[in-house]
Amino acid sequence: MTTRRTVLKGTLALPLLPFGLSACSDSSPNRYLADNFGPVDVESTITDLRVTGTLPPELSGRFLRNGPNPAGSVSESSYHWFVGDGMVHGIRLDNGRAEWYRNRYVGGSGANTNVIGFAGRTMAIVESGSMPHDLGYTLDSVGENTSIGTGFTAHPKLDPDSGELHAMCYDWANLRDHIRYVVVGTDGELAEETEIQLPGMPMIHDMSLTENYAVIFDLPVTLSFMALGTGSDLPFRWDDDYEPRVGLLPRGGEASEIIWSPLKPNYAFHPMNAYEDASGQVVIDICRYERMFENDVRGPFGDSLPRLDRWTINPKTRTVSEQVVDTRTQEFPRIHPDLNGKPYRYGYTVGVAGYDFPTIYKQDMQTGAATEFNVGAGRHSAEPVFIPREGALTEDDGYLMTFVYDEGSNVSELVVLDAQDLARGAIATIHLPVRVPYGFHGNWIPDTVTAPT
Ligand SMILES: [Fe+2]
Repeated sequence: MTTRRTVLKGTLALPLLPFGLSACSDSSPNRYLADNFGPVDVESTITDLRVTGTLPPELSGRFLRNGPNPAGSVSESSYHWFVGDGMVHGIRLDNGRAEWYRNRYVGGSGANTNVIGFAGRTMAIVESGSMPHDLGYTLDSVGENTSIGTGFTAHPKLDPDSGELHAMCYDWANLRDHIRYVVVGTDGELAEETEIQLPGMPMIHDMSLTENYAVIFDLPVTLSFMALGTGSDLPFRWDDDYEPRVGLLPRGGEASEIIWSPLKPNYAFHPMNAYEDASGQVVIDICRYERMFENDVRGPFGDSLPRLDRWTINPKTRTVSEQVVDTRTQEFPRIHPDLNGKPYRYGYTVGVAGYDFPTIYKQDMQTGAATEFNVGAGRHSAEPVFIPREGALTEDDGYLMTFVYDEGSNVSELVVLDAQDLARGAIATIHLPVRVPYGFHGNWIPDTVTAPT
């Protein structure tokens, strides 16, 4: 059965500047509105899904992914990929069956970047001042979640031992001189909050968490009043005058205790993972760009492309050793969810080739070897989410799930890979009759975390 609903119009993800020119098209001069970057204009519920291969019967829950999907008219000239109404795409699995696919506008203030299951809730989340937005099990909008306080982030980090969420939150429209480090308790309520004064207002997209530190990426993409004044959708720009650095905030400590270490100029959205080694150094593996939002001010891929680096911070000398791990361009790193902040061996990324996403990489951070799954000509992958197998014996004993878009048929699939053997190809594919636009982040949310209603 397939049902289609009237498009619901929401608002921009950031409290920014709407302009009223034409909507997207395949020939859009704005690269981030063209082809599968462009939005879909229909909300669907599809229950007759075709599956090839065998879905792991142990998986009962939802694979959810959020991304920007501007409703109505947007400016071709100023549209930035990071703004626009959020749309969550989800597939429900149960005991080896693909029960449904749904896509829904998030609604509210447009949390468009990630979707998580936490404290029994399903939450769409975004940075830059917007609240999380609660969704129902079937992805319909429930309403803004105000329990965390002013604004949140798209990349909270789960402490796998305590079950708490940690987040670096900025809110450029309301808090121009500081960011907030918050800890959210397992009950979903704000448990701790620390104000951190910074010399400017950088875009802080993500953070890392280790046993003893919360890590702050204070990098030279900052609020630009020139960009604000010219009506750019995203008012952040590369800033040669801003000194890049990384900060180690002792967990439970004060902002005055932060250990700052300088970095070479760079920008990074996403660390793969971070941990403390036996000598007390902090190791951070991260997808690093040479430049960001300097000339391409509509999205992240025009100025430089990200490689995988390892930063090793010596907290005593306040120095960082920066090493290249893999020069192949890649983004959207994921790991085993129980190893966040701990020593680990495997990470999974998407290969980025210009504006194409042809490959899933599996990085062995111990040996330096990488294996890959090429999704095929004219096909494009997305963030690979790792799901441990029930009863797993090793770190990589599990599945990778990713959406794959096929240019020829203009539709998408949900592909399930064996994380121990990417070369084996898909062990299961759920064929959708619709396309899922390139988006950002998502998660496998088992029914044990957020129960069906
Ligand atoms: Fe992100």
